[in-house]
Amino acid sequence: MRISVFGSGYVGLVSGACLADVGHEVLCMDVDPERIATLRAGEVPIHEPGLDGLIRQNAEAGRLRFTTDTEEAVQFGSLLFIAVGTPPDEDGSADLQYVLAVAESIGRYMQDYKVVIDKSTVPVGTADKVRATVQAALDARGIPLDFDVCSNPEFLKEGAAIEDFTRGPRIVVGTDSERVREAMRECYAPYNRNHDKLMFMSVRAAELTKYAANAMLATKISFMNEMANLAERLDVDIEEVRRGIGSDPRIGYHFIYPGCGYGGSCFPKDVQALCRTARQVDYPAQLLEAVEEVNNRQKGTLFAKLNQALDGQLAGKTIALWGLAFKPNTDDMRAAPSRTLMEALWAAGAKVQAYDPEAMKECRRIYGERDDLMLAGDRIQAVRGADALVICTEWKEFRTVDFAWLKRELNLPVVVDGRNLYEPKALQQAGLLYYGVGRGD
Ligand code: NAD
Ligand code: UGA
Repeated sequence: MRISVFGSGYVGLVSGACLADVGHEVLCMDVDPERIATLRAGEVPIHEPGLDGLIRQNAEAGRLRFTTDTEEAVQFGSLLFIAVGTPPDEDGSADLQYVLAVAESIGRYMQDYKVVIDKSTVPVGTADKVRATVQAALDARGIPLDFDVCSNPEFLKEGAAIEDFTRGPRIVVGTDSERVREAMRECYAPYNRNHDKLMFMSVRAAELTKYAANAMLATKISFMNEMANLAERLDVDIEEVRRGIGSDPRIGYHFIYPGCGYGGSCFPKDVQALCRTARQVDYPAQLLEAVEEVNNRQKGTLFAKLNQALDGQLAGKTIALWGLAFKPNTDDMRAAPSRTLMEALWAAGAKVQAYDPEAMKECRRIYGERDDLMLAGDRIQAVRGADALVICTEWKEFRTVDFAWLKRELNLPVVVDGRNLYEPKALQQAGLLYYGVGRGD
C-alpha cells in the first residue's frame, strides 16, 4: 500500500519505518526542513534503539522516503497517517493546531479517495473536527471528493518503540466504515498474523481508549509513589511491598516502580488533557486530578531530600546528577524529573555536574551554556569534586557502583536515589548516607 505519514517524530518515524519494513511504500513528511534533511542524509534525529538501521535499510530499498512537500505527501498515500504533536495548551487541553493544519492540507490537495488516520493522541471528538476541516477545505475548492477519518491511537513506549509497534498486544481502530476496516486490515496484516490483534470500535471509544490506557498507567505509578511516601514515614521498605503486591496477577509487576515521578511527552500531558476533557463535560475527575498532583509533588521530592540531607545549605554546593532523560534508552528530556531537580538546585544557588549516556546534547539544547551546569564526559567525571550524588534515570550503567570509591569521591557522603537502584545497606556499610524512595529511611 502507499502510505503517507505526517509528522516525522517518535511516532511518525517508528510507524513509517515499521510499515515500510513489511513492504509498504511509505513517505514521511515533516514541516521541519532540518529534520527532513537529516533523515535524507541517512541520520536519525532521535535516539531510539534499532531505528537507525530500520530506516537505513528501508530507505536504501526505496520503500521509505522523506519530504517537506505537503502536496506530494497528500497525493502519494491512499492511507494518510497524522502523527504530529498534540502538546498541552495554556489550560492543559490538547492543542490540536498541528493536527488540524494537516487536515486542512489534506482537503486542499487531495485528488481522490483517502483514509485519514488520527495516530496522534487526540481528545474524544477530534475525528469529527478533522473530518469537518478536510471537508471545509474541499468545499472551498468546490470539489466533491470522498474520504474517511478513523482513529488508530499508538501505544508504543520510547526506548522499546519498534518492539511495541511490531509486537504490541493490540491495534485499536475506531471507525464505522467497512471500507476503512478493510484498508486497516490490509495495512496491518503483516503485524497481525499469529492471532487477531485488530480491535475495531467506535471512533470515540478508540480516542478515549488511548487516554484511558495512559491514565491507568500513570495512576499505578502515582499510587505506588503515594505508598512509597507512606512507607518512608512508617519505616517500611517499599521494595518489599512492591514485590508483595506485584506477585498478585490482578495487580502485576508492571508500572508499580516507585520513583521520582513520571515524565516524558505523554503521561503528564495526557492526564492533564483528560482532566480538562472531564471538566468540559462537567465531571470532576477527582482521581485523575490527584494522580497529576501526586506526580507533581513527587518530582519535587529529590530536591526536598537533598535539601534536608544538606540542612538547607545548598548554595555553593556542587551536585552530581546521573541521568537526564525521563527514562532509559531515550534522549528525550520532556517533563523529565531531572529538569525539576536541576532548576530547583540552580534556584538554590547550587551547581550541577550531570551525565547521561544519550541526553547530553538535548540538555545543552534546552539549557544552553551556563556556569552552574557542567556536562560531564562520563559518570565518574560527574562525581569528581561533587558534594552529593542524585540519580534520576535508571540507565543500566548506573546499576553497579563501587560504593567505597563513591564515598572517597563525594565531599559529603550523600546519595539520593530517585530510582531505587541500590540496596540501602550496601551504601550504609560504605559510610554513605542513602536516601531512596520509600526505603524506610
Ligand atoms: P514529536 O514532537 O516527536 O514529533 C512531531 C513532529 O510533527 C515534529 O517533527 C513536527 O515538526 C511535526 N509537525 C508539526 N506540524 C506538522 C505538520 N503540519 N505537518 C507535518 N509535520 C508536522 O511527537 P511524537 O512524540 O511523535 O508524538 C506525536 C503524537 O503521538 C502525539 O500526539 C503523542 O501524544 C502521540 N504519542 C507519542 C508517543 C511517544 O512515545 N512519543 C507514543 C504514543 C503516542
Ligand atoms: C508511555 C506509555 O507507556 C505508552 O504505552 C504510550 O504509548 C506513551 O506513553 C504515549 O502515549 O506516548 P513513555 O512515555 O514512552 O510511554 O514511557 P513509559 O515507559 O511509560 O514511562 C513513562 C514515565 O513513567 C517515565 O518517566 C518512567 O520513569 C515512569 N515510570 C514508569 C515509573 O516511574 N514507574 C514505573 O513503574 C513505570
